[in-house]
Amino acid sequence: MANLSKILVTGATGSIGHHVVAELQARGANVTAMTHSAGGGRVPAGVGTVVGDLTSPDSVEHALGDVDTVFLLWPFLAADGAPDVIDAIARHCRRVVYVSATSVRDDRPPAENGVWGQIEDAIRGTDLDWTFLRVSGLATNTLAWTAPIGASQPVRIPYPRAARSLIHERDVAEVAARVLTEDGHAGATYLLTGPAALTQTDQVGVLSAIAGRPPRFVEITRDEAREEMLTWADAAMVDSALTYWASLVDTPEPVTRTVEEITGRPARSFERWALDHADDIRPTQTSEIVERYTTTSP
Ligand SMILES: NC(=O)c1ccc[n+]([C@@H]2O[C@H](COP(=O)([O-])OP(=O)(O)OC[C@H]3O[C@@H](n4cnc5c(N)ncnc54)[C@H](OP(=O)(O)O)[C@@H]3O)[C@@H](O)[C@H]2O)c1
Repeated sequence: MANLSKILVTGATGSIGHHVVAELQARGANVTAMTHSAGGGRVPAGVGTVVGDLTSPDSVEHALGDVDTVFLLWPFLAADGAPDVIDAIARHCRRVVYVSATSVRDDRPPAENGVWGQIEDAIRGTDLDWTFLRVSGLATNTLAWTAPIGASQPVRIPYPRAARSLIHERDVAEVAARVLTEDGHAGATYLLTGPAALTQTDQVGVLSAIAGRPPRFVEITRDEAREEMLTWADAAMVDSALTYWASLVDTPEPVTRTVEEITGRPARSFERWALDHADDIRPTQTSEIVERYTTTSP
């Protein structure tokens, strides 16, 4: 470990962040979890907490105190307000590790790279030492399908043959913990993916097997998907996501070995992720199926 400088973890109660906190604690780091609501219950015993709201730069500034390094997870779909928060971090800290996305393309202007490109750009504009963890699709996205699968209803998906290299949130967290506590990562952009690209059809198959339900999906059109997504995201984000997914039918999402190169251990498979979330996926007791998968999944 490089040193015991103080690390602040934002998003500390979320699916990636709570693993980051636990990993840092296990590595003996000086970690503080930033919480903004009653979700502080997910912070492991023995880890200090500080309240902070990422929509309020003043509250983030207050949380920074003597922090040296920030793990920045921006949980919103837009970058509004992010530059002020990043400026506050730059005034107090030396280093930031930011959770970005593999969809960011360096040959496009930041404004065309969604929230992630805009935040990377704002960070680049400071004197901070930065590391960007560009993450492929999070496997947790597929938890949205567990309700229809459990109810034996078809999952409604556009582009069922789109193949994504979904990543386990623990792999993101283990990479983050290394990067936050080791030297030599300043200025690095890491592309983090799962170990294989699986079509959406295959993903439904894995979840259905864990749930003990027959795999069922129905392909919906781009327009149908767009209408559903507009209930939770803005038009620019929806159109860019749909265009990206369409591209993955003929060109599967790339697979990298970066998780293994940094942690020394291969990235966990989607099947492994599903087993780790079996309690979230299965509607009833399907322990025999889980056991069958456990014996065959890395
Ligand atoms: N989904 C994908 O495929 C994908 C791909 C690439 C990158 N990403 C990035 O991955 C990240 C998602 O991480 P995740 O799955 O760990 O998210 P998550 O489970 O939804 O957790 C979000 C965290 O942010 C906290 N939070 C919410 N509002 C806040 C506020 N106003 N102030 C301070 N904290 C706040 C939440 O706290 P509470 O628990 O208290 O609400 C929670 O700790 C996002 O940054 C996303 O851009 C996602």
